[in-house]
Amino acid sequence: MAVRKGVRVSDRLGRPLQDLRVSVTDRCNFRCTYCMPRAVFGPDYPFFRSDEVLTFDEIVRIVRACARLGVRKVRLTGGEPLLRPGLEQLIAALRSVEGIDEVAMTTNGSMLDDRRARMLKAAGLDRVTISLDSLDDAVVRRLNDAPVSVRQILAAVAAALAAGLTPVKVNMVVIRGINEHEVVPLAEQFRGTGVIVRFIEYMDVGHSNGWRREDVVAAAEILDHISARWPLEPMPPRYPGEVASRYRYLDGAGEIGVIASVTQPFCQGCTRARLTADGQLYTCLFGTAGLSLRSLLRQGASEDELVSLIRETWSARADRYSELRAAGANGLEDGRYERSRRVEMPRIGG
Ligand code: GTP
Ligand code: 5AD
Ligand code: SF4
Ligand code: SF4
Repeated sequence: MAVRKGVRVSDRLGRPLQDLRVSVTDRCNFRCTYCMPRAVFGPDYPFFRSDEVLTFDEIVRIVRACARLGVRKVRLTGGEPLLRPGLEQLIAALRSVEGIDEVAMTTNGSMLDDRRARMLKAAGLDRVTISLDSLDDAVVRRLNDAPVSVRQILAAVAAALAAGLTPVKVNMVVIRGINEHEVVPLAEQFRGTGVIVRFIEYMDVGHSNGWRREDVVAAAEILDHISARWPLEPMPPRYPGEVASRYRYLDGAGEIGVIASVTQPFCQGCTRARLTADGQLYTCLFGTAGLSLRSLLRQGASEDELVSLIRETWSARADRYSELRAAGANGLEDGRYERSRRVEMPRIGG
């Protein structure tokens, strides 16, 4: 069906719907302490059953409806998206949805070798972002609780570059006392390679990571460390509402980003909706409830019905959790963002 003009939708704060983050599985082969601590996400954790997870066809139908409302960019996430068998088929189908002009993916890189990177590119994936929090295997073992070495993740970054999944980005979540001393080494590792490292403030997503304000290393501090070694200057955003603030090295060695959701929230420009692997549509990363599109689809809802429900949900949206948190607002436990009921990170995909 053609993308109908004039059905773009804005929320109560005037923000259009432009991006959709799609979690294709809530499972992951890592157990990063800030996302899926093993003590909580152990063998008994109730991951979605396969019949609860959206099929590719269902995901495509939702994306088609969202594209009619203005979504132009889709980001595949997880858990770990490459654990979902046959992901290339989904990518190819998404790439052919009218209106979608970018499909990107955030991955831990553990399953991304040269062959897979070429397959993903051939299917239509535009670019990848790979998580890497440290260059030290001992820290990776402790922080990411992962069955891989730093060398393997660096090889994944190289594979993504070689396959043209560019610009390749690397995400580093910085946590006080755990890996903050690795900010400069990580910057150094990728200077001059074309890879864009983004340093991310540790966030209070979900309800299992034991987040404490004092564990956050502020973006300003991160930038101080880097610019003391290699001077930086700010750059304009690549697109309106970009999550990362961009900086370039004055010596021409490339660009970095900082994602300062805690100290400099960016809710004002937030145009992102999120789809969980079981088909709930969330309008904020810190939400406690989503709109169940799966049950609608399985009851036989038409595309027009989906469009009108998503439009209604987005129109009613007033989310700005990070701004409220930064303002020290009371009422964050009022139900809408109650910590103990917040959707977990691997379900909502970051
Ligand atoms: P591009 O700008 O397209 O490269 O992607 P991105 O930075 O939006 O996506 P990515 O998956 O790499 O996310 C980077 C970090 O930003 C992760 O820690 C996300 O959880 C976080 N993030 C992304 N979108 C939002 C958002 O809307 N709100 C908050 N608070 N954090 C976000
Ligand atoms: N705070 C900040 N970033 C996080 N991510 C996962 N959990 C958190 C958190 N608590 C990041 C991952 C990945 C991206 C999707 O989100 O490292 O790069
Ligand atoms: Fe897995 Fe990514 Fe979460 Fe780590 S941050 S546990 S790699 S989904
Ligand atoms: Fe968007 Fe919610 Fe993140 Fe604010 S906290 S930027 S509203 S997802």
